[in-house]
Amino acid sequence: MTPRIDEAASREAAEALAGARSVVALTGAGVSAESGVPTFRDAMTGLWARFDAQRLATREAFERDPALVSRWYDERRMRCAGCVPNAGHSALSSIERAITARGRSFTLLTQNVDRLHRRAGSERIVELHGSLFAWRCTATGKERDDLPMPLPCYPMPSEAGGLYRPGVVWFGEALPAEAVRRASLAAASCDLFLTIGTSSVVYPAAGFVETAASVGARIIEINPHPTPLSHLATWRFAAPSGELLPQLCARVCLE
Ligand code: OAD
Repeated sequence: MTPRIDEAASREAAEALAGARSVVALTGAGVSAESGVPTFRDAMTGLWARFDAQRLATREAFERDPALVSRWYDERRMRCAGCVPNAGHSALSSIERAITARGRSFTLLTQNVDRLHRRAGSERIVELHGSLFAWRCTATGKERDDLPMPLPCYPMPSEAGGLYRPGVVWFGEALPAEAVRRASLAAASCDLFLTIGTSSVVYPAAGFVETAASVGARIIEINPHPTPLSHLATWRFAAPSGELLPQLCARVCLE
């Protein structure tokens, strides 16, 4: 049964969103769940419930078995290529257009590596954890997102004599400095922050919610389950993002 969404709260949150000077949205795997992309920590279906992150999502894992890790990421890349953006992705893209058309600021911080926001038309995207569609040469550090799908071999050698590794952030690695700079600036200067479909347990991404709260921004949390940062939310919607975001969008875009 679809959880009932509090109409009054939804109207209030949409009015705050429509009137905000500067909006930041942080998304996690939950936003892509309705597109068929597995989350990480959902009990039975999450990636980490079925695979050992330490064996697959670390630099050491790649150095130990580059063929296994390259193949796993390439299979995830192909799975995501076969998925389509859902109503939540589309709503976020429309909200971005509605807010920027009013001359206000909108920044989308995503932890997701599936590029579904981009395919849904979002433009002001900060990819905090990289992308499954980017591959980085271990010799030069240069990235490209035009490698054949599937890769011709695992691992795939680069022209510079190295290997192509996935262009994602692995456990123990720092986020891209430019992404952190943009995200920190946006979170510290926003007056409305949406945190959507994330368990809020991975930093520094979860820290941007705290930064926004510390500067007095109002927080909208959209997640069927509570998170460690739910107490910071001005409005909390225990609903799927694919259902709640179109409702917010309808109100914001008609304002
Ligand atoms: P998680 O799998 O940790 O959390 C997904 C969240 O989405 C959970 O809190 C779910 O309750 C919620 N959720 C599930 N379905 C939803 C829906 N339809 N609508 C809204 N919410 C829904 O994924 P992330 O928080 O994104 O890092 O994980 C953060 C990072 O941990 C990932 O980026 C990845 C992982 O290790 C790296 O790869 C570096």
